[in-house]
Amino acid sequence: MKISKICCIGAGYVGGPTMAVIAQKCPHIQVTVVDLNEARIAAWNDSDLSKLPVYEPGLADVVAEARGRNLFFSTEVDKAIDEAEMIFISVNTPTKTYGIGKGMAADLKYIELCARQIARVARDNKIVVEKSTLPVRTASAIKSILDHTGNGVQFQILSNPEFLAEGTAIDDLFAPDRVLIGGEDSAEGQKAVNALADVYANWVPKDKILTTNVWSSELSKLTANAFLAQRVSSINSISELCEKTGANVNEVGKAIGLDSRIGPKFLKASVGFGGSCFQKDILNLVYIAKSYGLNEVADYWEQVIIMNDHQKRRFAKNIITTLYNTVSGKKITFLGWAFKKDTNDTRESAAIYVADYLLNEQANIAVFDPKVEEQQILTDLDYLDTRSSEENKSGVDVTADPYQACKDSHAVAVLTEWDEFKTYDWQKIYDNMLKPAFVFDGRNILNKEELQKIGFIYKAIGS
Ligand code: NAD
Ligand code: UDX
Repeated sequence: MKISKICCIGAGYVGGPTMAVIAQKCPHIQVTVVDLNEARIAAWNDSDLSKLPVYEPGLADVVAEARGRNLFFSTEVDKAIDEAEMIFISVNTPTKTYGIGKGMAADLKYIELCARQIARVARDNKIVVEKSTLPVRTASAIKSILDHTGNGVQFQILSNPEFLAEGTAIDDLFAPDRVLIGGEDSAEGQKAVNALADVYANWVPKDKILTTNVWSSELSKLTANAFLAQRVSSINSISELCEKTGANVNEVGKAIGLDSRIGPKFLKASVGFGGSCFQKDILNLVYIAKSYGLNEVADYWEQVIIMNDHQKRRFAKNIITTLYNTVSGKKITFLGWAFKKDTNDTRESAAIYVADYLLNEQANIAVFDPKVEEQQILTDLDYLDTRSSEENKSGVDVTADPYQACKDSHAVAVLTEWDEFKTYDWQKIYDNMLKPAFVFDGRNILNKEELQKIGFIYKAIGS
């Protein structure tokens, strides 16, 4: 079966870039990305490519090549579903904020709405692809909804989790470590698996396309994120021990990373991991384990989150104690608000939590981030519901110029590892700060010797 029309429901950080790359690599396939959010779709269609709703290096070029040729962004969800042979579901699956499983389970209401919409609209057989990250066994719920339409339409459900990381999404999509496709073990199931594998085979080597049963595929996504986050929490736990003992976490990370069994990646100590995935997916894993009565499994993974929360709190506390036990009325400058460099995404960014702790201590926070807008920063703080919007607004000053942001401040805190921070004129920043001038490097990216020579009191993570 050859696919000629694809629809993707959800034009977010995954749906947008993923479909743009499929369209670019497969000019013979028409790809329509749909979303309920009209502003988002308008931004994807904006002739000014700097206005795309997702910032990713290389994305604008891919969109420029394919958009209008075989890549379309639209709010006409029914029409796109009706026309497509293959429908990707790439909607958000956030942590539940209400009811049973509140704060732990994945909220699947958007997934279910998609399934019901597909069931209502479809007039011919479809392959439905789970692109969103989902709890293991979600495919059976989707199947149950789709199989009860009573109109004879046949559906195949595949799991095809996305492993791209933000900031490197385009490179990750161009050359994935693997593409994972889970399908039913029937002839029809395998036909669907092959149809999707053929789409990827337009640019991904066949030996990197891995096929499994549906449940392995669903569970592999949660497991991959849990393992990655666990590495960050592991090295962050060691960073605290380094600070007590005179060891240096950068050196420890390098030393252990050279062991080929451990490997060098994901061993950078930091102010704590953020992003829309790690916390949500581990909490979900913990919830699933608990729901099967596997309490030891649940506790094991929950510790990754506990450690991460501790690391964020510890960074904020260190600022307070170092600044003579009070930051009340003091200006603290945040360099970076995004959860990592090269993205405008701020979801679960450590910066939000560090700011929240410092605002509780009545600090005045100035923020500079090269890609994050003021409104987003205030929305992130408001979402925590710790204080009123007015209080957040009066405690936070977002500035478009990094030097202005650092002027007259007591301390600079690096929250995101943007490359440009390394090459700033740190002498100029020092000259315009109050003395003693402190730098808290939550990403270990600045040059300690250079900063100390200028006169800064420099505090890194884990040394
Ligand atoms: P997102 O919030 O950026 O985008 C989701 C989009 O879906 C939104 O624009 C929303 O308006 C739209 N939507 C929701 N319900 C809809 C409906 N019924 N009809 C049409 N549109 C609807 O989310 P995201 O970051 O793209 O993540 C999507 C999924 O992919 C999640 O399950 C996430 O866990 C997973 N994932 C994310 C990443 C990542 O790096 N962000 C990586 C791998 C997997
Ligand atoms: C993650 C997974 O890597 C990706 O495969 C999955 O599809 C989505 O979730 P993402 O959250 O976009 O991707 O970025 P990632 O590079 O994994 O970083 C997550 C967080 O961990 C960031 O806040 C990053 O700064 C932090 N991190 C990462 C560290 O603190 N230290 C490290 O060594 C690596």
